[in-house]
Amino acid sequence: MTKKNKNIREYPIVIANLKMNGLLRESMQNFKQLRSKINDSLLGCEIVMCPPYTLLRDFAEKVPGTGIKLGAQNCHDKADGAYTGSISARMIKDMTCEYVIVGHSERRTTRNEGSELICKKAEIAHTEKLNTIICIGETLYERENDLAKIVVREQVLHSIPKTSKAENTIIAYEPVWAIGTGKTPTLEQIEEMHKYISYVIKEEIKQFENEPRIVYGGSINSSNAKSILSAEHVDGLLVGKSSLDPDEFWKIIEAAG
Ligand code: PGA
Repeated sequence: MTKKNKNIREYPIVIANLKMNGLLRESMQNFKQLRSKINDSLLGCEIVMCPPYTLLRDFAEKVPGTGIKLGAQNCHDKADGAYTGSISARMIKDMTCEYVIVGHSERRTTRNEGSELICKKAEIAHTEKLNTIICIGETLYERENDLAKIVVREQVLHSIPKTSKAENTIIAYEPVWAIGTGKTPTLEQIEEMHKYISYVIKEEIKQFENEPRIVYGGSINSSNAKSILSAEHVDGLLVGKSSLDPDEFWKIIEAAG
């Protein structure tokens, strides 16, 4: 299998989605452990860590000089105002974040977020000069009923705003049935879907001068990271559970480098 052709797509990205996990002390200990490994190494990939909001400031103090970039897991679709309990893209930027995840399936399903809302979130994030990680992916029912491509196409077409370009947008293909389950698609299934997403972006959205990165997420661990990264059209990984263990996450970073 040949690897990527040019620019940012040549350099894999590994994104940690810590989800709703981690209290201050243990999280900072874990980070220290990860940092000690990074200190001795030449990083062969871009690393982004997306802790919960409550830890962003503490991570922001610790990441400078490590090569790790910071991201948040979600943002509101409005700039500011009376939205109790919400966090704006500007607030995330103010925490020195460079990235924000939008449209994670856990928000699409449990918070009822649809592609139109995700699109608005991504747009406001771009306005604040944040890079977006826009998540898409089919359910098991949809895969088993031959609907995976139809659903993924709809999500791609409706979740990506006009403000998106290759430099500020990453598409994360995360089959819902692979998230947190220990099941992963075959390499052929991953390649087929990434290739299809790339086709839809190129032929139907048409606004991208260069191709944005397409990363895979769902039950990534240190044993499968390398082979999934070797698949055609896979430009990086979005890692959930395995990013909570610094040793395991480090092995994934090594696999990417
Ligand atoms: P997982 O989660 O690695 O625990 O499957 C991935 C994700 O939800 O981003």
